[in-house]
Amino acid sequence: MMRDIRFRSVLSIIVLRALVKHVVANFTLGANGTSFQCTDRGNLWCFGNASASPAGLMLTPIDRAIMAYEYYLWTAGMALSTTQIPLQKSESDPTRTSISFSTSFRFIIEPSDPNYRGDGMAFVMLSEGRQGFSGGSFGVFDRRGHHIARTLAIEFDTHENWDLGDENNNHVGVDVQDVNSKLARSAWEVSIDLAGSYSIYSWIDYNSSTQNLEVRISSDNAKPSLPFIVYPLNLFDVFHPDELVYVGFSAANGLCFNFYTVHDWTFSFVSDPEAIVQVSPPILPALPPEPGGGGKVQVALIAGVSLEFSFEQLCIATDQFGEESKLGQGAFGAVYRGQLPDTGQLVAVKRLNPVSNQGLKGFLAEVSIISQIRHRNIVKLLGWCKDRGNLLLVYELMPNGSLDKALFHPANPKSVLPWKLRFKIISGSADALYYLHEGWRQQVIHRDFKSSNIMLDQDFNAMLGDFGLARMVDHSQCPATTQIAGTFGYIAPEVAGSGRFTDKADVYAFGAVALVIACGRPAFLFKAPVEQIFLVDWVWEKLDQESLFDVVDPRLGEEFDAKEMKLLLLLGLLCSHPNAGSRPTMREVVEILGGRVALPLVPSSKPQPHYLSFVASDPHQSI
Ligand SMILES: *[C@@H]1O[C@H](CO)[C@@H](O)[C@H](O)[C@H]1NC(C)=O
Ligand SMILES: *[C@@H]1O[C@H](CO)[C@@H](O)[C@H](O)[C@H]1NC(C)=O
Ligand SMILES: *[C@@H]1O[C@H](CO)[C@@H](O)[C@H](O)[C@H]1NC(C)=O
Ligand SMILES: *[C@@H]1O[C@H](CO)[C@@H](O)[C@H](O)[C@H]1NC(C)=O
Ligand SMILES: *[C@@H]1O[C@H](CO)[C@@H](O)[C@H](O)[C@H]1NC(C)=O
Repeated sequence: MMRDIRFRSVLSIIVLRALVKHVVANFTLGANGTSFQCTDRGNLWCFGNASASPAGLMLTPIDRAIMAYEYYLWTAGMALSTTQIPLQKSESDPTRTSISFSTSFRFIIEPSDPNYRGDGMAFVMLSEGRQGFSGGSFGVFDRRGHHIARTLAIEFDTHENWDLGDENNNHVGVDVQDVNSKLARSAWEVSIDLAGSYSIYSWIDYNSSTQNLEVRISSDNAKPSLPFIVYPLNLFDVFHPDELVYVGFSAANGLCFNFYTVHDWTFSFVSDPEAIVQVSPPILPALPPEPGGGGKVQVALIAGVSLEFSFEQLCIATDQFGEESKLGQGAFGAVYRGQLPDTGQLVAVKRLNPVSNQGLKGFLAEVSIISQIRHRNIVKLLGWCKDRGNLLLVYELMPNGSLDKALFHPANPKSVLPWKLRFKIISGSADALYYLHEGWRQQVIHRDFKSSNIMLDQDFNAMLGDFGLARMVDHSQCPATTQIAGTFGYIAPEVAGSGRFTDKADVYAFGAVALVIACGRPAFLFKAPVEQIFLVDWVWEKLDQESLFDVVDPRLGEEFDAKEMKLLLLLGLLCSHPNAGSRPTMREVVEILGGRVALPLVPSSKPQPHYLSFVASDPHQSI
């Protein structure tokens, strides 16, 4: 007897009901006019925070008008096709063979901050249409990662949960009945960043004759000949032969968040394992233009209140916020290069996505303070402008980019940032941070001190950028309460516990930058051997082994001042001391770097957190 499968008319479905045996169904959503629709008369059942629009299927909230990160935390969404899939090739088949199926889709995952990603998404097959928990459960599994319904999930995991054995924050895994993947593989192996804010294409094929599940991923729409993952699977070990399963997608965020959109989904299944069904590659509709992208800015927008700059001036300066002028893009806005029409000055214009009125008030108060700060090592905020809810911040342009770029991606790949300049950059950064902490009429906590926020002027002077605003604009607090926060290199352990940033948290981050400069590698490098992943820990270990200079950037060769190098490494450790109370103040740091004050004794190995005093150090470590 044939199963009664209801297909919605809005789906572009071709159903062949061969009267006795075969059921073949293809459906395509999100392409060729078959947009995703989350209504019960549409083509998807949506749960939790999932929603659909002609732009795609959004699995968690994406409301770029809302910049309060609390809005996005612990969100989860699931969308299941209203077409359910019968698993058994035919009820009259005594051998109980399962169907083969093929599905392909395109998705984009945008992290709120590349370093702090949400949990990830999954393609799911479920015996029941019920949603699970947010965070590491992908919205599929229960709080402890166990199944709610019979479950097969292909996870695209963008968050590292060590307790679950995740190898990194960028892997694909096959989950059968629970969240601990049966098989997983790092997407870095094929140079894919799942949360890279670009389109990822995936193909999932199950062949019931070979009993293999194959997963492919690519950053373009050509299906790779080799599967990325092959997992031997009998569908009937997961599901009951006579059940209809739901197919769809699920995604979740915890204390860090991503935006997830699914596009161009096709699914086809073949009840006869010998029949071959070609799944058409995902269709690529033209992406909707970026808000404010070339030519889209309308004169009517100029009505907004402007402070110092008019929106019109900034439109001219940045060539209408055109693609050509874009220096970078984040989830909350884009940065454009511009030239002010009247003075000819080169500027960087940060165009933030709209904020709520309440957010705006606090933001403007903060901006008005920050725009008054003037220091030779601090990027000048020249002004700002509000246009409806959009905020535009105008900074002086730093043509040579950031310290990050100079260290890791120099214009000439062979060039190595010389030691003299490195020492000058860290000294200038210390001056800037000291000024923010103590030199101005009110204390300003940077909150997001890291090598990518240290810009360089044409003489390689450090120019500190993006301070203070971090609280409003960046979502760098996102990892603040996670266990692993401190491990990302720049966040002090007590911030992870309390979520509160203090000047001593800035000092911790300064220590991390000092070590990054000396060692020429990122503060957190998951590709490194395990004992080297966390730069601070590795340097402590080498200090303990009395081979401190093993950590020195090998690209420097012998070209550095050994005394300065040792000073910087030990100072870096002292600043990144696990206990806030044991860290020097920025005033002391400036004095130490200037050679006016001797470096205090540094413990000879990594102190335990919460020790109240220093362990006595070996005499050879004092400078
Ligand atoms: C979508 O439309 C294009 C162009 O008309 C066509 O080539 C393609 O086969 C269609 N895809 C599907 C899945 O219907
Ligand atoms: C997300 O979903 C939960 C549960 O349905 C709901 O309480 C919350 O308000 C939603 N959040 C957003 C931003 O839509
Ligand atoms: C399944 O694998 C068999 C053996 O390799 C092959 O002949 C068959 O075409 C495959 N079926 C599908 C639906 O891909
Ligand atoms: C399913 O789609 C593929 C590719 O568009 C097509 O070749 C195949 O004939 C379709 N199957 C049916 C039963 O329409
Ligand atoms: C720094 O910027 C100046 C001015 O744009 C340029 O001439 C110089 O080549 C840049 N230096 C490096 C190392 O990028």
